[in-house]
Amino acid sequence: MPKVYITRREVFSAAHRLFNPDWNDEKNEDVFGKCNNYYGHGHNYTLEVVVTGEPNPETGYLLDLKILKKIIRENVISKIDHKHLNFDVEFLKGKNPTAENIAIGIWNELKGKIPSGKLYSVKIYETENNYAEYKGE
Ligand code: NI
Repeated sequence: MPKVYITRREVFSAAHRLFNPDWNDEKNEDVFGKCNNYYGHGHNYTLEVVVTGEPNPETGYLLDLKILKKIIRENVISKIDHKHLNFDVEFLKGKNPTAENIAIGIWNELKGKIPSGKLYSVKIYETENNYAEYKGE
């Protein structure tokens, strides 16, 4: 059976500060540089969620993208858009909000909520040129 991949893209804006509370200011500054700014800084993030599986023979859809959009908005975007990722987001509590950790957190929010096909990857673009991708391993 042919396996296909569908992608839904969403954008959101959020603030974060990268730091490790176990380190002193100097080491945090060395490792994270400008991203260690005390009161945080913002990004316009792009999220891409990929689902894989076989198209339904009746509809030709693997999963209606309108449904995927609704699932992502309800489970992810509503929780992180216009938030401070260090303080406001339950699924990132205690995590340094790097693109890597955001991708893992979003994967965990979406896992088990995809009604047909299966979650294949979650990509978080922090800038146009930098992104992290998680595939659940
Ligand atoms: Ni940043």
